Amino acid sequence: MRTQVVIIGGGPSGLLLSQLLHRKGIDTVVLERKTRDYVLGRIRAGILEVGFVDLMREAGVGARLDRESHIHDGTVIAYEDQEFRIDFKEMTGSHVVVYGQTEVTRDLYDARAAMDGKVVFNAEGVTIHEADGDAPYVTYEKDGSTHRIDCEFIAGCDGFHGVSRQTIPLDVRREYEKLYPFGWLGVLSETPPVHDELIYSGSERGFALCSMRNENLSRYYVQCSLSDTPEDWSDDAFWTELKRRIPGKYAEALVTGASIEKSIAPLRSFVTEPMRWGRLFLCGDAAHIVPPTGAKGLNTAASDVHYLYNGLVQHYHDGDSHGIDTYSEKALARIWKAERFSWTTTNLLHRFPDQSEFDLKMQLADVNFLRDNVNAQKVFAENYIGLPY
Ligand code: APR
Ligand code: PHB
Repeated sequence: MRTQVVIIGGGPSGLLLSQLLHRKGIDTVVLERKTRDYVLGRIRAGILEVGFVDLMREAGVGARLDRESHIHDGTVIAYEDQEFRIDFKEMTGSHVVVYGQTEVTRDLYDARAAMDGKVVFNAEGVTIHEADGDAPYVTYEKDGSTHRIDCEFIAGCDGFHGVSRQTIPLDVRREYEKLYPFGWLGVLSETPPVHDELIYSGSERGFALCSMRNENLSRYYVQCSLSDTPEDWSDDAFWTELKRRIPGKYAEALVTGASIEKSIAPLRSFVTEPMRWGRLFLCGDAAHIVPPTGAKGLNTAASDVHYLYNGLVQHYHDGDSHGIDTYSEKALARIWKAERFSWTTTNLLHRFPDQSEFDLKMQLADVNFLRDNVNAQKVFAENYIGLPY
């Protein structure tokens, strides 16, 4: 088989890139190791920057998002017994959009199917060949036989555990990582959200987040130990702990119920450089991971797609390789800022096992400065709604 761009990974970044390129007449094949249902079964975050929403609209996949999503003009920060609101609208004139990553991925799969986009599921043993040459190709196993796709470029959108990053020689790539000494235990419940905006809460018992998907689907998280398993946490234990970590009025108002999903995610900051090697480009989680505190995981994947999509269109339509030649540099510049914001908010609201009394006083001073200083709130808001592409 031959195509212009082989895209490895049928998650949000791979599908969005495929959809955008297809609408510009650029042929792609998406190779996904799992099934559609498996990919859609993974519960991920749901805060979209306006830049992401604009990309979805440009991809012709904005209708349901525009109909069913919720605009949030602000968020609540709580710390111990105090709380304050960051007003995104007042600080930046803009907002974020609440719409689950699962719904984003579902809409993209539907759009790919509607355009007869080539998405190969259950593609096993994907292997990238000669990405540093002029005639790269990709092979994979399916239904007991080996398949080969010749192409001009490869987009590695296969997440943190994918094959693409591993294809870049160790003497070429440089990896930066920070592992946090805790995870997030997340619960999805068919209950009304406790508040009409997100609540990010720091407490002496650790972090908690109150989020939502819609009027009757809520998503809550508590900071937990990395040795915990979801089985260690009954629903009652989860709700009891959550109530201890949020301001009293929300604890009283909290509607609890059976969890329909419960999972633990470790917290990690990770970046690999460069994000291009020959004809291979890395996008999304394949190149970088952020702790979820800043809601930047999906949004940094989107900015990668923005830069690569525009670079490839420039290459194919104008014969100009400037966009793809500066892809890695441009994508990394925005990613490091998102890494900084995600690291800063994680340090602001979590409890670390080795935190001294002085460290705690510094954390409180950070929170109070954010509460009292309009410039600090503006900086927070600008980062949260998304820095320009
Ligand atoms: N071959 C083919 N497909 C693969 C391979 C492989 N070797 N390895 C992984 N995949 C697939 C996975 O099954 C997954 O569906 O690649 C896809 C990668 O999708 P994501 O992990 O969702 O990564 P990305 O599309 O970059 O989206 C980033 O996902 O994890 C969240 O917080 C993150 O929100 C961010 C978003
Ligand atoms: C979520 O809704 O799952 C969510 C929201 C904000 C975050 C992280 C996760 O920072």
